[in-house]
Amino acid sequence: MTNLVDKYRGSKARGEKITALTAYDYPTARLLDESGIDIILVGDSVGMVVLGYEDTTEVTLEEMLHHTRAAARGVKNALLVGDMPIHTFDSPDEAVATARKFIDAGAQAVKLEGGVSHAKHIEAITRAGIPFMAHIGMLPQQVREQGGYKVKGRSPAEAEALIADARAVEKAGAFSVVLEIVVPDIAKQITNAISIPTIGIGSGEQCDGQILVTHDLIGLFPWFTPKFVSPEARVADEIRGAVRAFIERTRTGGLSNG
Ligand code: KIV
Repeated sequence: MTNLVDKYRGSKARGEKITALTAYDYPTARLLDESGIDIILVGDSVGMVVLGYEDTTEVTLEEMLHHTRAAARGVKNALLVGDMPIHTFDSPDEAVATARKFIDAGAQAVKLEGGVSHAKHIEAITRAGIPFMAHIGMLPQQVREQGGYKVKGRSPAEAEALIADARAVEKAGAFSVVLEIVVPDIAKQITNAISIPTIGIGSGEQCDGQILVTHDLIGLFPWFTPKFVSPEARVADEIRGAVRAFIERTRTGGLSNG
């Protein structure tokens, strides 16, 4: 496990791009793993694309651990990262206690949202020997305070704050950092300013890797797709088609199910 973390830490120097996707259940995690993905994140985005909440602020620790256990059963090769939900890391001690619960549930590393503001929490986690992935830029757990999912790094002050966040999480021991909807030029500057890999989501192509919510990539949450996503499949349409075919053949008595 530590080897995987070292591998991804070193991928930047080797110029190898890191690939990361979300999974919240056994079959999806297994499919991603078997397809060769580097990192699987049990993201708190589960709240929106699986549990039907309005945003990620309603997700509980119990829900996250439940999904982490399920995903862990399907992973053999990828690095499994558990996403710490809001208000489960309000102090450094609480952050370590929560991180340990994710490790007990089968995660090999954890992630939380925050930069300079959470350097002490991150340091406590990494000092406890738990591999840590940072997350800066747009922080979905703060969507209500921020009034929406807004691009970060547009003003010089915001760009400076982001670079400070990136440096702080690197210093605190993170092995990588997610940059969420950061202006691509600023994401590139951050990528050049730190030695750990940046993993972008909606932050341009100059990051050291890319992460997406799998439901967005495969078109499994058709009611909303972020602007920066180009879906590679239309799974929702496949499901609708299969269901309609089943309804049709059942109602017309065309085909029995045994
Ligand atoms: O919860 C999540 O899926 C995430 C990714 C969007 C990075 O944090």
